[in-house]
Amino acid sequence: MDENADQKIKSFLHYIEELGLGPYYIARARSSVPSYDQLTARARDACALARPEPSARLAGVSGLQPSPSLSKQPRAPTIPIPSGPSLFDEHIENDSLERIREDIGDCTRCKLHKARTNIVFGVGNQKAELVFVGEGPGHDEDAQGEPFVGRAGRLLTQMIEAMGLRREDVYICNVVKCRPPENRLPERDEISTCSPFLVRQLAVIQPKVICCLGACAAQTLLETNQGISRFRGEWFDYRGAKLLATYHPAYLLRNPNAKGEVWKDLQKIMSVLGLKARKK
Ligand code: URA
Repeated sequence: MDENADQKIKSFLHYIEELGLGPYYIARARSSVPSYDQLTARARDACALARPEPSARLAGVSGLQPSPSLSKQPRAPTIPIPSGPSLFDEHIENDSLERIREDIGDCTRCKLHKARTNIVFGVGNQKAELVFVGEGPGHDEDAQGEPFVGRAGRLLTQMIEAMGLRREDVYICNVVKCRPPENRLPERDEISTCSPFLVRQLAVIQPKVICCLGACAAQTLLETNQGISRFRGEWFDYRGAKLLATYHPAYLLRNPNAKGEVWKDLQKIMSVLGLKARKK
């Protein structure tokens, strides 16, 4: 299959993943071309740190629980991950965003470093009550070294302002800090290499609310491979913060009809943070 067609299929699978749909089945018994369901499985694996689904993991956590509807959903297949101690599970005394950035250094830990221009660490208020987490830098972010500065970023800025905030009031970062080539999904090894830095950023900032933009951020922090539409708009506990996942602004650019749903999600966040919508 030529790269263009492969990329188109991957984008389509990304799109249906955002909707929580799939897998799609097409009989291709006699073909050597990978089937849709194989590609779907690849896409799912790519952005899933397969661990217990949120309902399982959160059941023992005090505070917020996922809504009952989530626990009634059929389980998505999970892939075992190697267990063992992680450096990043330990609390790092006197950690700071500066120290995390220093630790990242001129990173070559995963293959994403090969094509990147800039590491996109994160931007905003270091004491923010609200943190937005995206997937990974795109072309504009890679060029400028700042998250969410392209088209999707401008929409995110509008969303933040509609909530009665300014971009500099919140903190914005991504699961992976280097741009995946051709804006493909970050792959599993890339996520597992880079996400510990996100975990540390969140531990330092200690926001009241984390808003995951899209499936990748939500699946990474909630350690699930369920489709985002299964739990979008619901509250979860993430290490003492309230976490809510909504659709990615890039998805909204392709599907403006979903803006109403996202606005409802943002209003939930505003109500927790005591924010009033900006007057038009
Ligand atoms: N999409 C993301 O997920 N993050 C960015 O920084 C830009 C686009």
